[in-house]
Amino acid sequence: MNLVIPPRTTPSSATAPLRLPLGVLLLLSFSLLTARQSLGSSDLDGAWRLDVPKPFGVTTHTFLVLHQEGNTLTGMVYPNTAEERTMLNPHMEGPVAVFSIDWGWTFYVHRSGANLSVTLKPDGAEPIQAVAYRISDADMRPPSALPLPAVRDLPDNGLVRTPPMGWNSWNHFAEAIDDRTVRETADAMVDTGMAAAGYVYVNIDDTWEGAARDAEGNITTNRKFPDMKALSAYVHSKGLKLGMYTSPGFVTCGGYTASLGHEDRDMKTFAEWGVDYLKVDWCSSSRVYADTELRQVYQKMGEALERCGRPIVFSLCEYGRGEVWRWGAAVSGNLWRTTGDIHDNWKSMSGIGFDQGRLAPYAAPGHWNDPDMLEVGNGGMTNTEYRTHFSLWCMLAAPLMAGNDLRSMPDETREILTNREVIAVDQDALGKQGTRLFTLNNVEVWSKPISGGGQAVGIFNRGVAEAAASITWSQIGLESKPLIIRDLWQHRDIDVAADGLSAEVPSHGVVLLLLK
Ligand code: GLA
Repeated sequence: MNLVIPPRTTPSSATAPLRLPLGVLLLLSFSLLTARQSLGSSDLDGAWRLDVPKPFGVTTHTFLVLHQEGNTLTGMVYPNTAEERTMLNPHMEGPVAVFSIDWGWTFYVHRSGANLSVTLKPDGAEPIQAVAYRISDADMRPPSALPLPAVRDLPDNGLVRTPPMGWNSWNHFAEAIDDRTVRETADAMVDTGMAAAGYVYVNIDDTWEGAARDAEGNITTNRKFPDMKALSAYVHSKGLKLGMYTSPGFVTCGGYTASLGHEDRDMKTFAEWGVDYLKVDWCSSSRVYADTELRQVYQKMGEALERCGRPIVFSLCEYGRGEVWRWGAAVSGNLWRTTGDIHDNWKSMSGIGFDQGRLAPYAAPGHWNDPDMLEVGNGGMTNTEYRTHFSLWCMLAAPLMAGNDLRSMPDETREILTNREVIAVDQDALGKQGTRLFTLNNVEVWSKPISGGGQAVGIFNRGVAEAAASITWSQIGLESKPLIIRDLWQHRDIDVAADGLSAEVPSHGVVLLLLK
């Protein structure tokens, strides 16, 4: 994959223009350098702009600010110019300077004539070979902050009374998303039964944007998306809705054109395209505004959405910064990210999911905590773990945005994503988020109130061995045995003892029950 964050296990067919195995690149770098004798004492010193041209007509940039004294290197990196990151573990490997940043990127840098020759290695993805050019400090300066509205409460837009359900391109495809893949995904959403199970939004994440605005200042698409209006019409013709992505900053996280200073114009464009859902990603705003201004920046976007003439679900993506759950609804937000990016592994998913209980008071119809999109079916976890992932997200009344390739999903993945009894827990009309009742060794018992007086109970085993859990009715707030106990993964009513229930839960697995 190319220069995008965060590192993902993505198809490698996508986009990298100049791709060589890392070993070859390093060898090449090394031989070039030995040919030039050794490094001068400050060969890497200065500010540099790393250009990464994409095959669809966009070039993204990353700034490197390097201070070299002999073999000692320090500095800062501005990945995709969108954020500022301290260089981690800088060191010389022979003549090549090596350092990383916490986007999961490692850089291998050496001087080549007037420029730098750079190999960028994103975790879990192909290395990219590119050139960095010398720039001045002024070239790195972000645009100035714009006036922000005084804080006020915006009216509720009335959308998504139950958590939004759909699909988003990022987790699986990252930059390898295009018009055709979106159309095929819309087809698959219908053909696989996902649409019938409630999934409706087909959401294009970052990397759809063109290199520049048109003469009137309108945002444009790149070659991967030749006609957004036609694509939108296609998605709508399937009975589905279209989602898009932008940032309130000057570039998106991927380094593409974003909406700073064009808030109204862009929201109008999205409305004209027939967009129904918009994810608004903070990223480069952090180089323009302070975190204390998060609310006003999102309010400005909310006001522009209010004026755009089309109902559009407003999805805030700010990684849980600024305690967004306290004010997200007041800027007309329908959902807000409560965490950094999810990754397709047990540690990331469980670390995020089991930490969400404290935010339960902030979820309500129309306004949802968003622990990030689903990884179900992406291959980094077992199906037992994916059932836990899906169950936990449903217990959290989380938005259910599938993040896998719907066109080729195996039956077991489809069965997880379309389990209607589990989805009904997520979509329950009460709109209450579940919380952890108690923990017994590695077993966590969670409860979510359900309309009509019942509750869903999730018995989760976070341990590495199978666990037996015994739970009394009083431990889950009941006086006696409920009338109906339904196992939502086994799809059957179960009988239990009069004083409580016991369950065998596999390692990293879940027993999910509906008690009435
Ligand atoms: C951020 C977001 C992700 C995704 C990428 C796209 O990392 O948190 O969900 O949108 O940006 O660049």
